Amino acid sequence: MLTLLLLALLLTCWPASSSSSLTGEHGDREALLAFKEALSDDSGALSSWNASSSDFCRWASVTCSRRHPSRVVSLSLRYRKLGGSISPDIGNLTFLRRLDLFYNTLSGEIPHTLGRLRRLRFLELAYNSLAGEIPADLSNCSNLVYLSVEVNGLHGGIPSGLGSLSQLQDLYVGENNIVGRIPPSLGNLSVLESLALYQNKLEGTIPEGLSRLRYLRYIQAGRNSLSGTIPPLFFNMSSLQYLGFSSNKLHGRLPPDVGRHLPDLQVLRLGGVGNNFSGPIPSSLHNATGIQELGLASNSFEGRVPPEVGMLCPVSVEMGSNMLHAEDDADWEFLRHFTNCTRLRVLDISDNSFGGVLPSFVANFTGPLIDLLMGKNRMSGVIPPGIGNLLDLEALEFAGNDLHGVIPEDIGGLWNLKYFSVEENLLSGGIPSSFGNLTQLLTLVLSNNRLNGSIPEC
Ligand SMILES: *[C@@H]1O[C@H](CO)[C@@H](O)[C@H](O)[C@H]1NC(C)=O
Ligand SMILES: *[C@@H]1O[C@H](CO)[C@@H](O)[C@H](O)[C@H]1NC(C)=O
Ligand SMILES: *[C@@H]1O[C@H](CO)[C@@H](O)[C@H](O)[C@H]1NC(C)=O
Ligand SMILES: *[C@@H]1O[C@H](CO)[C@@H](O)[C@H](O)[C@H]1NC(C)=O
Ligand SMILES: *[C@@H]1O[C@H](CO)[C@@H](O)[C@H](O)[C@H]1NC(C)=O
Ligand SMILES: *[C@@H]1O[C@H](CO)[C@@H](O)[C@H](O)[C@H]1NC(C)=O
Ligand SMILES: *[C@@H]1O[C@H](CO)[C@@H](O)[C@H](O)[C@H]1NC(C)=O
Ligand SMILES: *[C@@H]1O[C@H](CO)[C@@H](O)[C@H](O)[C@H]1NC(C)=O
Ligand SMILES: *[C@@H]1O[C@H](CO)[C@@H](O)[C@H](O)[C@H]1NC(C)=O
Ligand SMILES: *[C@@H]1O[C@H](CO)[C@@H](O)[C@H](O)[C@H]1NC(C)=O
Ligand SMILES: *[C@@H]1O[C@H](CO)[C@@H](O)[C@H](O)[C@H]1NC(C)=O
Repeated sequence: MLTLLLLALLLTCWPASSSSSLTGEHGDREALLAFKEALSDDSGALSSWNASSSDFCRWASVTCSRRHPSRVVSLSLRYRKLGGSISPDIGNLTFLRRLDLFYNTLSGEIPHTLGRLRRLRFLELAYNSLAGEIPADLSNCSNLVYLSVEVNGLHGGIPSGLGSLSQLQDLYVGENNIVGRIPPSLGNLSVLESLALYQNKLEGTIPEGLSRLRYLRYIQAGRNSLSGTIPPLFFNMSSLQYLGFSSNKLHGRLPPDVGRHLPDLQVLRLGGVGNNFSGPIPSSLHNATGIQELGLASNSFEGRVPPEVGMLCPVSVEMGSNMLHAEDDADWEFLRHFTNCTRLRVLDISDNSFGGVLPSFVANFTGPLIDLLMGKNRMSGVIPPGIGNLLDLEALEFAGNDLHGVIPEDIGGLWNLKYFSVEENLLSGGIPSSFGNLTQLLTLVLSNNRLNGSIPEC
């Protein structure tokens, strides 16, 4: 009761903005005007920020403190078409808790004076054209919870001092030109949930300490030059939802119990040029039942695909360009299971050693399959009629196998088809005239077969 009464008193006694914001005794007004001065504001987003308008707490996108009415706590300027640079005077807004400059065209460097903002919790600079380095002074912003400089032109390294930001939950530095190693100190960010490092020039190994971050849900470090192996403990992080290390220089085998402790995993991306993971695909992946994206392409995985893996129901299965094989029906069992998956949109098992007879159940996928890529294998048999049932198909590839028989007429009913390639097989008979109905078709490759007859005029 007493607290309620006090609260009521506070609310009535402290106006939302008081006359002190007219004078700006702490210099916040001057700092805002200096910040504006360094920007170009073609869309007039900051036209209310001018010397003749008095109360800066009423300026657009500015929020002042309730308890300290002449102090700015938040600047929210996303999508404002702001150009120019970020003035170092921003560091004078020492009560700032939130600075959001997402998606503008800001250039120049990130001012190191941001390090003076000890109260800053949220710093969003993503999607600009900022250059220079990530200032080490940001380590002074000990209250930071969210830090994003994603998609800019930053170079230099990741300051190891960032590892001291003990409140940090989200760190995004993807899509820059960041070099050097991932600082092992990041393993001290004990409440970190998201770490985006993708598309930079990072090298060296993945610090083992990162695998001890018990709240880490998202790690995306694809498209770098990281080398070595993935520390095995990563596959024991039950918090993980997204594990992305595609297109690096990593190698190693997946531990046999890889899926056992990843109940929430949705995305596993280990594929892409540069990596060379090897050994079998462990059947325990089956336990990561939430997987939506299984990205293992362009590695040296070998052996059969365990049938258990086919019981997953991902949106996308990318296993192309490996050394996987199949000889008989039992080895194709994984694929039979996948035909049951109502989510499956992409299946790429091309460029492997899948042999035996092309299973006729490839015509029986229940998911909205868009890409079915099985080229460059060793499959015999025929293209099953019924493939024309897969009405969502946009890309269909059986090139580079030992298929015989005719091209089924019903492929002409796949009206979304853009890419059809069956070159280098033993196909015979004519080109179905139904192909004239494939009005979306961009690529048609039939060469090196035993096709005969005339090319249908349509
Ligand atoms: C910001 O603070 C610095 C150092 O205290 C001072 O030199 C500068 O004049 C201030 N800027 C503005 C615009 O008041
Ligand atoms: C200054 O801002 C006020 C609103 O705060 C606006 O009414 C006025 O037109 C602005 N003046 C100029 C010169 O832009
Ligand atoms: C950050 O802290 C370091 C060490 O305390 C200090 O030398 C530096 O001046 C600080 N930077 C800013 C911008 O306040
Ligand atoms: C992590 O923090 C501890 C304690 O502050 C410190 O001793 C250690 O050096 C830090 N680790 C790294 C890798 O920076
Ligand atoms: C992996 O996690 C399980 C339980 O989540 C734990 O029992 C096991 O010790 C962990 N393994 C390692 C190598 O830390
Ligand atoms: C990839 O790994 C396999 C198996 O360990 C090895 O035989 C092969 O030489 C490696 N390839 C490259 C390009 O390093
Ligand atoms: C993993 O899957 C196997 C069957 O493939 C099952 O016996 C086991 O209980 C599962 N483990 C967990 C942790 O779900
Ligand atoms: C497909 O699903 C049905 C119904 O859930 C089930 O009976 C059948 O065994 C499944 N087939 C495969 C190959 O997983
Ligand atoms: C494909 O599905 C049809 C209809 O559900 C069924 O009759 C046929 O046996 C299935 N083919 C294969 C090879 O599983
Ligand atoms: C092309 O499509 C039309 C309309 O759907 C259909 O009537 C016709 O038979 C098809 N042509 C061929 C050659 O399949
Ligand atoms: C195409 O070749 C087959 C035998 O492979 C033959 O039966 C058929 O008559 C030929 N068709 C044409 C149009 O030459």
